[in-house]
Amino acid sequence: MSQGRPAPQGEFALPVTVTPALPEAATFGELDMPAALVDMLTGLGVTEPFPIQAATLPNSLAGRDVLGRGRTGSGKTLAFGLALLVRTAGQRAEARKPLALVLVPTRELAQQVADVLTPYARLLKLRLATVVGGISISRQAAALRDGAEVVIATPGRLTDLVERKACRLDRVSITVLDEADQMADMGFLPQVTALLDQVRPDGQRMLFSATLDRNIDLLVRQYLHDPVVHSVDPSAGAVTTMEHHVLQVHGADKHATATEIAAREGRVLMFLDTKHAVDQFTRHLLGSGVRAAALHGGKSQPQRTHTLARFKDGQVTVLVATNVAARGLHIDDLDLVVNVDPPSDHKDYLHRGGRTARAGESGVVVTLVLPNQRRDMARLLSDAGIRPQVTQVRSGEAALSRITGAQAPSGVPVGGAEPAADRAKRGGAPFRGMGTRPGRAGRSGGESRRSAEARLTAEARKAARIRRGS
Ligand SMILES: Nc1ncnc2c1ncn2[C@@H]1O[C@H](COP(=O)(O)OP(=O)(O)OP(=O)(O)O)[C@@H](O)[C@H]1O
Ligand SMILES: [Mg+2]
Repeated sequence: MSQGRPAPQGEFALPVTVTPALPEAATFGELDMPAALVDMLTGLGVTEPFPIQAATLPNSLAGRDVLGRGRTGSGKTLAFGLALLVRTAGQRAEARKPLALVLVPTRELAQQVADVLTPYARLLKLRLATVVGGISISRQAAALRDGAEVVIATPGRLTDLVERKACRLDRVSITVLDEADQMADMGFLPQVTALLDQVRPDGQRMLFSATLDRNIDLLVRQYLHDPVVHSVDPSAGAVTTMEHHVLQVHGADKHATATEIAAREGRVLMFLDTKHAVDQFTRHLLGSGVRAAALHGGKSQPQRTHTLARFKDGQVTVLVATNVAARGLHIDDLDLVVNVDPPSDHKDYLHRGGRTARAGESGVVVTLVLPNQRRDMARLLSDAGIRPQVTQVRSGEAALSRITGAQAPSGVPVGGAEPAADRAKRGGAPFRGMGTRPGRAGRSGGESRRSAEARLTAEARKAARIRRGS
């Protein structure tokens, strides 16, 4: 972290707003939306507009361009989604010519936005198409050929489809960039601007993120006209239900500490820097008896989808991920996020941490910090406007358990892990030094878990015998 840390980004240049914004809406009912849609929102537990929805929807429903910054988990998806759907309703897309477009940085986020909007789109008789890399392009081309009013896409795959003439954007009259500051990163910007240059020049554009900074100045200047700006300053807008902890650890103890946190009762999302580190740590956790799975850009898309689904439904308790999981994803009942490797800037910190404490729920963000990372981390947190609680911890200590629920893992490898015996045959543990100290498992009930595991295995064998009729 001490090398290559990007310079802190400044505040974005406030665009010129000529026409004053319409007043906030106190209820969904007073917005210019079909009554059946309001009923559906209520039925799905969305009874009152969150602040960013109350502020932007009157304007976005009236067709205004919007620049919106609101904390993580504050309801930005419906803020742009409802306006986009309501304003598209009643129109029908011709083959290959969608009418509205949402661009997002990751495939998982595209799928999630599609899932969130699908019930409302059905009600309004709108067809959604999700266009992302890593899965069959021909099926996506077919959906576009059949006609889709709304396309939710990652920029790379949409560009491919446009180049193959499977999609044209010149009828798109509403365009949203979610996670707009990331879409303005150098990796995305050329593709994003090339796509924005193809949509209708007189159309509506909306840019949303929890962190808007100087990165977006170019997009704002070139693509927003007389926008309404709703912006909660990120430092003032740090999520109040979120607790921040810096845990100072020593290098030799870092993986033991992370392993014990992973072995807690509840679920946890853990961020590491690289795909390789994610894979290695996941294998280590599986070998230690923790139901973990890895999510990063090197996995196939079906694997990525399957992994996220297993984490959401509780089959997996620990999701070990790179920054691919940092933005936008909503996972119910996730109360702990751990930066095993510190994030590289304050924006990454806010987005990673923002996977917990969403929509008024509470949550804890823990960052493991080595001695040589302390100073950079302190600066990063001050950039984020956050004052964390700082604690020195060692694996096995009560303070670690109190903050994170850490406990010793069972030590019994779980599915997908290489059995300890095979590992021994190959000449010892592959990740020596990363595990908890020997003997710890036994101290915290590992033995009883082990015998429970053996009993379950015996029962499973018996059940299989019965199924086979033997
Ligand atoms: N008005 C509302 N009332 C109740 N729940 C809501 C409301 N609006 C949104 N939610 C819920 O809040 C959660 C977070 O919403 P959303 O994913 O849109 O946040 P976000 O602002 O986009 O966060 P991020 O910056 O992390 O992408 C979702 O589960 C959503 O269903
Ligand atoms: Mg979002």
